Amino acid sequence: MNIREVAVIGLGTMGAGIAEVFARGGFAVTAIEVDPDALGRGMAILDGSLARAVSRGKLTQTEHADILGRIRPATVLAEAAPADLVIEVVPEQLAIKQQIMTELDRVVRPDAIIATNTSSLSVTAIAAGSAHPGRVVGMHFFNPAAVMRLVEVVTTVRTGPAVGRAVTELARKLGKTPVQVTDRAGFVANALLLPYLNHAVRLLETGYATREDIDAAVTESVGLPMGPLALLDLIGLDTSLAVLEVLHTEFGGTRYIPAPLLRRLTAAGRTGRKSGGGFYDYPAKGTARAAESPMMHNEDQPPPPGTITLIEPEAGHGSGDRVGHGDGARPGGRHHDRAAELASLIAAAGISVTRNPAHPTDLAIVAVGPEGGVLAAAVAAGRGADAVGLHLAGQQLAELVPTRLTSASALAAAQALTGGLGLRSVRSADRPGLLAAALIYPHLRDAVAMVADGYATAGDVDAAMTLGCGYPRGPMQLLAEFGPERVLGVLRAMQAGYGDPAFAPPPLLAEIALAGWLPAGLSTVGSSAAGNEAAGRETAGRETAGGEAAGHDMTGHDMAGPEWAGGTAAAQPPQRGT
Ligand code: CAA
Repeated sequence: MNIREVAVIGLGTMGAGIAEVFARGGFAVTAIEVDPDALGRGMAILDGSLARAVSRGKLTQTEHADILGRIRPATVLAEAAPADLVIEVVPEQLAIKQQIMTELDRVVRPDAIIATNTSSLSVTAIAAGSAHPGRVVGMHFFNPAAVMRLVEVVTTVRTGPAVGRAVTELARKLGKTPVQVTDRAGFVANALLLPYLNHAVRLLETGYATREDIDAAVTESVGLPMGPLALLDLIGLDTSLAVLEVLHTEFGGTRYIPAPLLRRLTAAGRTGRKSGGGFYDYPAKGTARAAESPMMHNEDQPPPPGTITLIEPEAGHGSGDRVGHGDGARPGGRHHDRAAELASLIAAAGISVTRNPAHPTDLAIVAVGPEGGVLAAAVAAGRGADAVGLHLAGQQLAELVPTRLTSASALAAAQALTGGLGLRSVRSADRPGLLAAALIYPHLRDAVAMVADGYATAGDVDAAMTLGCGYPRGPMQLLAEFGPERVLGVLRAMQAGYGDPAFAPPPLLAEIALAGWLPAGLSTVGSSAAGNEAAGRETAGRETAGGEAAGHDMTGHDMAGPEWAGGTAAAQPPQRGT
């Protein structure tokens, strides 16, 4: 199929971005928005994005004008008549999308392809609105559409094979990396991303950590390009809510139940960047206010303590040291290693360290692991009031964990300590799963569960998150780096602590931890993404669309042979990390 003319229906944030991508790719674009005001706003978004590219030296003024010249704004659907491909980008409501399919039957040529950019709705159900479901296909872009490389090509059992192939080829022509998926709620990327974002909202509303600390916990520890709350503002809280509702209907379970705060903010019209505010404020539309520093700067901060008692939680305290056969099981285990690392770090800063809890010092630091448990160790040491947990999550990030007994002065002293050590600090509740692990490990769990379900391969999962969401490394690669055994231990602690099966590790994760097996080819996928300066924005990645070439059948199963092979992760030392 030779696609030259494209019609984009709906010119919100995504529609404007998609229209821009097509026009920049040399296609003639009809941009249709029935509401003239919304059309004006959409064209302004598009123009602003092009102007930004000009100001960054990526486009010339002439190219800017040429691209705009290829876009024909319109307010009636009939203007889609000449299009070879129509893509609908209207709000995430099945009835509206089906209605558009029905109307398009009367407008477009019989051989035109009809694509939907739905984030999570069933493409099969959307196609039911069309008299020709064989020509309906999902073509799912990621925000900002001009930047993110991933396009999920969603075929249904009705989609004609030529249609799937044409859209896959089209995505490549646009400079994107297509990943072919079958029709399941949230496809690959959103089914993994949204529960993680939702969990971040729950952590915020339950006072687990502050907004800034939640975001810093993942950007600073894992290097994700944005924190979950900032990302929700980018995606739109209303869109995110709609996706979660679809996911919950399809999969059930607590992880997809939208956090009440997400509903409240959406109801209040705080839908994110596009409305001027969500979790953060964006005074000039689309321009983020300078984020408040996630560092715990305090003008009145006391000087770092001169003497510190280092408390090592009892061996076996916290599940991370008891699971499997890794280094956590040897005498002393990881608590011991953590305490030793902290002791040398603190001593190197010229602060005197003792391990004797009875010895009077300025501050007691509990060398806590990501499974939490500061209070028990502090009480056991008789240092309830002046003990603070400290966990190094990544090279630059310290998680500070006060307990219910910790005094304000002890917390201030701990903040001064991390500041003096040159570490950025976030504050976490003393719960199973400290802040960074509470955010990231269940996300990795979901990725393993998706692979275990046979919906996507480990490579697809990593490609989707690096190319679609700019992760420096995909979830399966992160799992390898953190150590499956450690992730398993923290998840078990979270499951036991909260009694929520949503945190239950899938059997496959336990198998990986025990056998030291990891998905074959991980290093290839991970290193190609990690080695790329744009982290998912420029990488060629692993192209899996086209099904046949990648050895995928219609269910997404890998037909090439066993997916699991002896991996290298067991031989890698676990990262200091979440
Ligand atoms: N439009 C066009 N280009 C944009 C842009 C926009 N809205 N925002 C950023 N860019 C470009 C910039 O021009 C810049 O390009 P150059 O390097 O060529 O100059 C580049 O992107 C980087 O931008 P910045 O330096 O301003 O900012 P940054 O480095 O902080 O990156 C970001 C911004 C690309 C948004 C980055 O933070 C990121 O990758 N975030 C993750 C976004 C993500 O996860 N998206 C997926 C959301 S899920 C989804 O969309 C699916 C769904 O259905 C809900």
